[in-house]
Amino acid sequence: MQATTVGPRPPSARPRSKAGWVWRWPLPALLAWFGAWALTLLLPAAGVAAMPAQCCGMALSGAVAWALPQASAWRRWLTALGFPLALLASGALSAWPAWCWLLPLALLWLAYPLRAWRDAPLYPTPLLALQGLAEQAVLPAGARILDAGCGLGHGLKALQREWPLARIEGVESSWLLRLACALRCRFAQVRQGDMWQRDWSGCAMVYLFQRPESMAGAWSKAQREMAGGSWLLSLAFEVPGAVAEVVLSRPGSHPVWLYRIGSPSSGSIRPGDGR
Ligand SMILES: C[S@@+](CC[C@H](N)C(=O)[O-])C[C@H]1O[C@@H](n2cnc3c(N)ncnc32)[C@H](O)[C@@H]1O
Repeated sequence: MQATTVGPRPPSARPRSKAGWVWRWPLPALLAWFGAWALTLLLPAAGVAAMPAQCCGMALSGAVAWALPQASAWRRWLTALGFPLALLASGALSAWPAWCWLLPLALLWLAYPLRAWRDAPLYPTPLLALQGLAEQAVLPAGARILDAGCGLGHGLKALQREWPLARIEGVESSWLLRLACALRCRFAQVRQGDMWQRDWSGCAMVYLFQRPESMAGAWSKAQREMAGGSWLLSLAFEVPGAVAEVVLSRPGSHPVWLYRIGSPSSGSIRPGDGR
């Protein structure tokens, strides 16, 4: 039987954005801010206290920022933060109790357990960063791809776009990010955990967007646990001393290194480099 391969979808088969005029920038941000102010001003008239009404406004602008289709990070931040900053400038937040200012700090701590600082903080993979790699790393349908440290799932989406028939999985140390990622990427299996503890055997590919310091350990782990012929894919950081099968570099975007496990050219790393 001929093996089914997972290649890039032809342009016509790629999902088209259903976004209509309403998503044309800067309309979504203006609508989000308008809706947020409307909630803040109208809910008190219906008997809701000022603080919960302002929170509803912030939640609305945050939700619109979240839902923006294929928007850049700065557009999302602008949409989400425009309303709270306007509230701050208007002096409306001065009535909030002092402990509320600790909430963003608590949120940051939940999103980034201290352990995660050793590897990499959250920084998303651009959707098209891996475009074209499916032609180089041909995977059978149902092959498992793991994003080690999957954050909010941007890497999972880029992987699914490139290998649409693969089984996409993610592991993320922050339970808050894991939860948000699972909600954003229902096509993937997302678990909370430490990528260094997770078994990589059985994965046809492991994808990383971590830190330069993590790469030697990741290569060592991949060589110990992954089958010959499988792939280690890294955005932005290369494995020191290993030779990549493919290096994808495009102007204006991070390079991508694709390593084949067990390839004679890829080399190995001294024991002790791994975790
Ligand atoms: C640069 S972000 C990349 C996120 C995602 N892979 C992407 O490309 O969009 C690195 C992510 O790895 C997570 N992380 C760091 N160390 C980890 C570990 N030991 N186990 C699991 N996740 C980890 C961080 O919380 C962060 O979300």
